[in-house]
Amino acid sequence: MKDIAQEINRRRTFAIISHPDAGKTTLTEKLLLYGGAIQQAGIVKGKKGARAAVSDWMEIEKQRGISVTSSVLQFRYGGYCINILDTPGHQDFSEDTYRTLMAADSAVMVIDAAKGVEAQTKKLFKVCTMRGIPIFTFINKMDRDARSPFDLLEEIEQVLGIETYPMNWPIGSGKDFKGVYDRAAKEILAFESVGKVGTKQAAKIEAHLGDAGLDGLLGAELHAALTDDIELLDGAAYEFDKDKVDAGKLTPVFFGSALTNFGVEPFLADFLRLSLPPAPRNSDHGPIAPTGDDFSAFIFKIQANMNKAHRDRIAFARICSGRFERGMEVTHVQGGKKIKLAQSTQMMASERETVDEAFAGDIIGLFDPGIFSIGDTLTTAKEPFRYEGIPTFAPEHFARISQVDTMKRKQFVKGMEQIAQEGAIQIFKELGGGMEEVIVGVVGVLQFEVLEYRLKNEYNVDIRRQNLGYSSIRWIDNEDIDPKTLNLTSDTKRVEDFKGRRLLLFTSDWNITWALEHNPGLSLSEVGR
Ligand code: G4P
Repeated sequence: MKDIAQEINRRRTFAIISHPDAGKTTLTEKLLLYGGAIQQAGIVKGKKGARAAVSDWMEIEKQRGISVTSSVLQFRYGGYCINILDTPGHQDFSEDTYRTLMAADSAVMVIDAAKGVEAQTKKLFKVCTMRGIPIFTFINKMDRDARSPFDLLEEIEQVLGIETYPMNWPIGSGKDFKGVYDRAAKEILAFESVGKVGTKQAAKIEAHLGDAGLDGLLGAELHAALTDDIELLDGAAYEFDKDKVDAGKLTPVFFGSALTNFGVEPFLADFLRLSLPPAPRNSDHGPIAPTGDDFSAFIFKIQANMNKAHRDRIAFARICSGRFERGMEVTHVQGGKKIKLAQSTQMMASERETVDEAFAGDIIGLFDPGIFSIGDTLTTAKEPFRYEGIPTFAPEHFARISQVDTMKRKQFVKGMEQIAQEGAIQIFKELGGGMEEVIVGVVGVLQFEVLEYRLKNEYNVDIRRQNLGYSSIRWIDNEDIDPKTLNLTSDTKRVEDFKGRRLLLFTSDWNITWALEHNPGLSLSEVGR
């Protein structure tokens, strides 16, 4: 039998966060190539319509050619067992993207060197900071004209509020890109253009800055600039502080080019060396050690309707401690029942395969006959405990939804409630109101289409949708405040969610500020707990 502690300690479970087009897919592919999990690029997201379906379970995905739900990719490299949690980012950005971050132990932030910190990166970063997980930065596309590396670091520090430590330093960019200088090894990794999707190793050159020979390789100008930059960096205040990295207060930064496969392998090696194996997670019985004897996991995502003939769902569970074995009996804590985990799957690139064994750090998909909710705990512990719940993240798009045929009221209510329970949408109603008027909130607009499609196909209900002009929602933290007494702008709406929590819908950030200024003591949250 495998040594459980050893298995767990070699696990690295992380998510890649970025704004669309920064190069997340390209980097993922290169990582998988190193791990030997795929043999050629283009498997993760075949470009230009040739998409290999990681999860082609829903018609809408096929029609639109995009993946609505995220998956998990596992591969081995250098003795490590690596789980990459895919965080959907384009039109398929949804609350699942945020929730996936709750299952990660660290994050890799990919930034386009010409664009810097972009909107979606900011949102995802915020969730990572909330959890205090380590964040590693890969500044991508150095083979194209890039902004000054100093500017990029300053932007990361200013906009995201995290200290930076460049592990390597770029020498030129775009047509003049010569490679990177590895600060610890004091070596130059020379960039050789080897075609668009080359997999050739870059040349390592042991070089002392100031050596005359470098003028020939880099050109006198870039050599002088590099010498100056490194002097400046080495003299700077920020030291490399591993404790700060572990706490998510300092991000190690790597420059490279995923497309040309430049700087990816050194990045992977350093990432694996510096990132953490699964750490203890908080529960209502205190922190639970991953290497403890008992198996435990929590559900962070529910994917509906894998099989159209049945209303089956797959619940994705992040294992937090111990060892999973197919067929094992566990307590489903929230359901108060013992259940047998007989059907379990794991996503591997484009296939779904059955898993017989898994360890803390791994993600497994469990057959769900409709009993699981997001945040539920499963464990074999004699004294069952609950992991800290997964917060509800603020949706950004809102619409009023009603059924076309009033005779189908029952199906409408049932469908809406079930889809909301899976976490695909959030539903809000008037304070003290019923389901007569429902406001649906989603993180990404595609979820509206998913809702419409599923109500039609699974519940045979047509809906009417009226988009609403709200852009933000906030949970009211103060238990003792009656929302009706709040002094608000006339376009701010008071609602409640299905847990009875009270919220405010705003048409602009300006209105949020207004509400806070005109209601002393009012406390608003971007996440619902
Ligand atoms: P995403 O998952 O973050 O959305 O980004 P993705 O990897 O799909 O990359 C977005 C575009 O940027 C792709 O071009 C990709 O080839 C390109 N790209 C990624 N990394 C680099 C890099 O290091 N250097 C350069 N020059 N380009 C990079 P596309 O035109 O949208 O797709 P394709 O037709 O080239 O495949």
